[in-house]
This record gives sequence, structure tokens and C-alpha cells, in this order.
Amino acid sequence: MAKIPSKPWGGRFSEPTNKFVERFSASVDFDHRLYEYDILGSIAHAEMLSQIGVLTDSECSAITDGLNKIREEIDGGVFEWSIVLEDVHMNIEARLVDLIGEPGKKLHTGRSRNDQIATDMRLWTRDQIDQITIKQTVILGHLLDKAEGHVGTIMPGFTHLQVAQPITFGHHLLAWFEMLYRDRERFLECRHRVNISPLGSAALAGTSFPIDREFTAKKLGFEGLALNSLDAVSDRDFAIEFAAIASMTLSHLSRWCEELVAWNSPAFDFIELPDSFCTGSSIMPQKKNPDVPELIRGKTGRVFGNLSSLLVLTKSQPLAYNRDNQEDKEALFDTADTLQDCLFAIGEIIATMSPRVDNMRSFAEKGFATATDLADYLVRKGVPFRDAHAIVGHVVAEALEKGLAIHEIELTQLQQFSDVIDADVFDSLTLEGSVAARKHLGGTAPETVRSAIQTARKRL
Ligand code: ARG
Repeated sequence: MAKIPSKPWGGRFSEPTNKFVERFSASVDFDHRLYEYDILGSIAHAEMLSQIGVLTDSECSAITDGLNKIREEIDGGVFEWSIVLEDVHMNIEARLVDLIGEPGKKLHTGRSRNDQIATDMRLWTRDQIDQITIKQTVILGHLLDKAEGHVGTIMPGFTHLQVAQPITFGHHLLAWFEMLYRDRERFLECRHRVNISPLGSAALAGTSFPIDREFTAKKLGFEGLALNSLDAVSDRDFAIEFAAIASMTLSHLSRWCEELVAWNSPAFDFIELPDSFCTGSSIMPQKKNPDVPELIRGKTGRVFGNLSSLLVLTKSQPLAYNRDNQEDKEALFDTADTLQDCLFAIGEIIATMSPRVDNMRSFAEKGFATATDLADYLVRKGVPFRDAHAIVGHVVAEALEKGLAIHEIELTQLQQFSDVIDADVFDSLTLEGSVAARKHLGGTAPETVRSAIQTARKRL
């Protein structure tokens, strides 16, 4: 029976691929976006083959020229992708043979799609990390700029979403800064583990050609070589790690968005979001909804889902490469795309939101935010903290009954709860006094926040 010529691997087959199998196994619909990395990897591989004498110089230039031409075709939208050729690798290779003939058939010497795809994915992920960390740096800068304008802006700090103690808005923004700073650090550390060259591992066992792995790694900007060919073609832990850090980052962004949504609601009314970043209701004309932070919060779920997919994908695979791994792509791509969009969006929101400082302040005046300060005052006058806590509890109960804030209670009244109380107590009960007193490292005092911002700028 006639051989089927259309598949690069068709030699041993005597039946055409079932149409369903062709569609089911094709990845080109989504892996075509790796083309740039695939071409770079192929050029590096061809140059290496010519260095070691497996390709002649003219074969190597024909290959390189052909690949550059293919890149132009793809960039220009005229390249014809075909699912018959399964994936990005075979589509490009087949076109290369079309374009340059014989030398094109030599490109795959000493390599396999298994080390090729691992290389493409690592290069792609590395680029994503670079774009992501740039976006993170921009947001971190926005946070510091915003914080700088609000080192002395008083707002309520919450625990259990109940007014707890007064803080400064700058301090709150620096809490977000710390979260995102760690996320960026995680991506930068992960980059080192991503940036390792699997090229040369071939299908699983390496190759019988005297390849120069250092050469290709250097060409492609890798900082090291994968040290075991079986591991290099099969593990996707770099993708899992990327998705885990993306999940952590989204979890942080989701928390911020939860606050932004609350702050934007009339119940809090702490911030105004720009019209351009909100949408309206199709029925209620008065609505201006914080959809963008809601969507960031919502998209967190799909990224957690992608992480879970990648973990499950790899957990039962024996060494070495298995086709299961083709399923890593959509989860990884979606993770990066979603994260990039969410980072862009949150950066814009932070840069453009305007805090309503009066509302923040009046909210902080409610809820006995300085009760801890009264207890601390008593402690400084010699009362043990537990007793002080109980005394202030009674003061709060009295204030609740009379419908007063603590500082509105008469001195003589306060003295009935403890005879160590003097007129200077009122200094401790102001919002400004409360935040100013918390001036140790990590505290909310304006002067501390100001110096934390300076340190943060250096850390950036
Ligand atoms: N499209 C494949 C993937 O994403 C490329 C590697 C194919 N290797 C193979 N032995 N079929 O994993």
C-alpha cells in the first residue's frame, strides 16, 4: 500500500490518520503562538549543527534565511497553518522544506520535538516573566507615589471588617506594596529555574551527534543546561511554578479588589474610580459599577484552576515525554494572559483612583478606634494591661449607652473608671495621636511611612 507522505513521521504508517485523531491531537491552533521562539530555537540549533560540521555553511544559511522568511510570513498573516501538520514545529519545518528543499530536511538532525517544545515553552515563559515583572514594577511605583501623597491621611484600619484602630492610607498602600513586592521577587527567582536549556536532550536520551549544548544555550540566552535529558523533556515544573506564583499574585490582587469594591460602595465611599474604568447598568440609570476590580477578583478563579490543571496533568506521568504534556499550553497561556491583563488593570486603577479623605477620616472616628490607645495610656500610668483592657471595656460600654465617642466623655466621668486618668488623656485619644505613636519600624505613623517609602524606592 502507498505510504502517506503528508506527515513528517508518516514513513511507517500505511493508513491515513483518522480525521478525528487529527483534530484531537493537533495543537497548532494554540501552540502557533510559540512560533517566534520555535524559529529562534531552530536557528540556534542549525548554527550549532554547522559549527560541529553536521551542516555546511551554505545549508545553515539556507535554513536561517528560510526560517527568517517564515517568520515574516507568520508576522504578515500569510502563513497557512494546517492541523494535518499537528503543531507549530511541523508546520514550520514543512514550510521550510517547501521553501528551501533539501537543507530544510536536515534541520531536525540531533533533536526531537520533545526537546524543541520544552525549549520553546521555557523561552516563552521567560519572556512572560520579564513582561510581568516590568508591569509589577510599574504598579509598585504607583503604590509608592500614591502612598507618598497620603502619609498623613487617616483611615480606619479593620479587623473582621470592624473598625479596629486608626491607620494612615499610605500605610495601607504599603501593605499592598509588600505583597506585590514578594510576588515580583518570586517571579524573579522562578526565572532562574525557567531559564535552563533542555535543547540537546532530543527525544529523551540525548543524541549520537557531538552536539554543543553550551553553544545553543548561550545563543538563546539560557543561563544553564538541563543536566538530565529524561527530566528535561518531561518535567513541566517550571510551568507549575509559574502558575503557582501567578495564583499567589492574583490572590493578592483579588484581596485588593475586594477592598476597592467595598471602598467604592456608598457604604464606605472611600474612593472614586474614574468613569473610564467603570461600567453602567442596562436597567438602573444611576449605577456606576466597579466591574474591573470585580473581574480581577473573578479571574483569580480561572488562574487557580489552571494551576490545578497543570498539577494534575503531570502527577501520574512516567518518564519521559508523554503527549499529556501538550495539555500544558492552554493552561499556561491563559494564566499569563489573565495575569498580564489584571496587572495592567490594577496599575491603572491605583494610578487614577481618588481617595475621599474626609470620608475615611469620619469613618475612623466611629467604632472607638482609639480604645487601645486609652488602654496603653493607663498602662503608662502603671495599670497592668489586662486591668486597663477591662477598664476601657467599661468606658466603651458607657460611651455606647450615651451615644458618645470616647473623647467626648467628660474628664470627671472618665476618672470614675480610673483615678490615674488626667487631662492629658485626650492627647492619646485623637486619631493623629494614635497613628503618630506607632512609629517603630513597620508602624503606621506618618514619619515611619515616609521613611518606609524611601526605603521601598531603594528596594525597587
Ligand atoms: N505538540 C507537542 C507538545 O506540545 C510537541 C511534542 C510532540 N512530541 C511527540 N512525541 N509527539 O507536547
